[in-house]
Amino acid sequence: MNLLVTGGAGFIGSNFIHYILREHPEVSLVNVDALTYCGNLENLSGVEKDPRYRFVKADIADAGTMAEVFAGASFDAVLNFAAETHVDRSITGPSVFLRTNVAGTQILLDLALKYGVPRFVQVSTDEVYGSLPETGAFTETTPLAPNSPYSASKASADLLVRAYVHTYGMDAVVTRCSNNYGPWQFPEKLIPLMITNALEDKPLPVYGDGLNVRDWLHVEDHCRAVWLALEKGVKGEVYNVGGANEWHNLALVKELLAILGKPESLITFVKDRPGHDRRYAIDASRIRRELGWRPTYDFASGLRQTVQWYIENETWWRRVKSGEYQKYYQTQYGL
Ligand code: NAD
Ligand code: DAU
Repeated sequence: MNLLVTGGAGFIGSNFIHYILREHPEVSLVNVDALTYCGNLENLSGVEKDPRYRFVKADIADAGTMAEVFAGASFDAVLNFAAETHVDRSITGPSVFLRTNVAGTQILLDLALKYGVPRFVQVSTDEVYGSLPETGAFTETTPLAPNSPYSASKASADLLVRAYVHTYGMDAVVTRCSNNYGPWQFPEKLIPLMITNALEDKPLPVYGDGLNVRDWLHVEDHCRAVWLALEKGVKGEVYNVGGANEWHNLALVKELLAILGKPESLITFVKDRPGHDRRYAIDASRIRRELGWRPTYDFASGLRQTVQWYIENETWWRRVKSGEYQKYYQTQYGL
């Protein structure tokens, strides 16, 4: 099986590539990534020597270059991980989110259609459903109600996928996962930001009252769900993915500090994110029932392993946190 994986130098894409090359010897793949600020080939070290792997630096929103990638490649499936993914950056600069997440997806859909690629998997997010009150969970029939430019762009891409299935008969599925954690996550996201700041004894910036809720899943469990959706998902369907593992942000940050043996005095409450979604929770019963998916990581040990990974990979995150990151951090937090 020959796959086109986009965004494979990012957090989830790189974990997916490690996972697939390790677990599925029948798979070869081309990784297309534009290497934006969060795309990092160091996430794939070791993989580049595998004859089943090829990297192409390209922008999914560049139709001409992407046509060259598709021509003669004979892909069996496209898995679209490539995206601008950080909500805070979408609030200060939405344009690139529309370009990559919407136009980029449309270009991939067009090319998949033109070159007769038999399967398309769109890696989406639970954020397309908006925010929940204190109870309940998102199902696949929850109406789309995105609240940030990021989630609006992801919802737009999902609707394009739906339209290509309906109009052109394209064989595509969408996965919508909750918050991921694990190795190689860019340290602008909550968990790696808090771990690395704590390791540096820097303030941990918690938005608002810290009582927003997120539903955390280990990235490898997400990767297995994407693979199952590719293999067994029904054309045109959506699959929610989540581990039924809700945490208040503040409780999670305290847990990380306890694992690291650092004081809670590092916690600093900062101005809230505009339009901050209060709570996400995923009902993943469909993918469990229909595709046989189960999360394998227990959160307590997954979180400890992740903390340990950041302790052992200090060179990686120190390099990532230099340069452009410093400017971003100053503007975002002023800390
Ligand atoms: P990430 O920001 O770590 O990585 C995104 C990757 O896409 C980077 O390697 C980047 O270089 C690449 N990219 C960006 N623009 C591109 C373009 N125009 N052309 C080619 N490549 C481009 O993101 P992530 O957290 O790994 O998320 C991957 C996917 O999973 C995204 O589609 C995201 O919406 C979705 N998702 C993420 C989470 C999460 O918790 N992180 C949860 C659910 C769904
Ligand atoms: O739910 C899936 C989504 O999860 C993905 O689609 C997104 O790509 C991914 O970025 C993530 O979005 P969130 O906005 O939930 O993740 P983030 O790590 O940015 O924030 C998690 C929570 O922590 C959220 O309530 C905001 C809060 N937070 C975040 C940062 C960066 C803070 O309190 N302080 C911070 O500095």
